[in-house]
Amino acid sequence: MDTTAPTIRVASLADAHGIFELIKSHPEELISRSLGDIVENIDRFIVAERGSTLVGCSSWHILPEIGEPQRASVEIRSVAVRDGLRGAGVGTAMIRTIIARVRPLHPAQVIVLTFAPAFFGRLGFREVPKTQLMHKIYMGCVNCTKHANPFTCPEIAMVLELPQ
Ligand SMILES: CC(C)(COP(=O)(O)OP(=O)(O)OC[C@H]1O[C@@H](n2cnc3c(N)ncnc32)[C@H](O)[C@@H]1OP(=O)(O)O)[C@@H](O)C(=O)NCCC(=O)NCCS
Repeated sequence: MDTTAPTIRVASLADAHGIFELIKSHPEELISRSLGDIVENIDRFIVAERGSTLVGCSSWHILPEIGEPQRASVEIRSVAVRDGLRGAGVGTAMIRTIIARVRPLHPAQVIVLTFAPAFFGRLGFREVPKTQLMHKIYMGCVNCTKHANPFTCPEIAMVLELPQ
């Protein structure tokens, strides 16, 4: 069995299919994404790899603020670590890599909607009411294929402020 520590790196197009499968294998926790969507946004994916096996993925995207481009937020999405490799710091390393990547953009905040609030809490995120983020997450929620209403959706809204 390979016991080497996974490598964290930016994704390449060759990772798209593995990312697709990894997201698809977590239907309870993650919103599925088409292969086309993953390819279009591949430059905003961070992956974890052990040997030649993809063992983790995570992505980010920008949520604009109407009329205030400098106040845009970053949302973290599609975070998954393969079963059997959890608890080894892979998820933490991927989120830290995303935070380091987006910090120079000076976003107003980094947000996440998650079933793993304790995991994000350890990374400095704090829970906020969904109403506080509603205008930012509107497009994702209105197009959600899992829940009819963001206020009955069990995901927890969390925010990380990045000191400027
Ligand atoms: C959430 C997830 C990405 C964490 O990845 P991971 O590599 O296991 O995380 P780490 O090893 O970096 O864990 C860091 C800490 O968070 C804790 N933690 C990890 N996953 C957790 C979870 N789902 N709930 C609560 N705490 C969690 C770990 O126990 C660890 O605590 P410790 O430092 O006291 O040991 C992984 O559990 C996963 O893929 N879950 C299924 C998909 C999912 O829920 N994604 C998040 C939706 S946004």
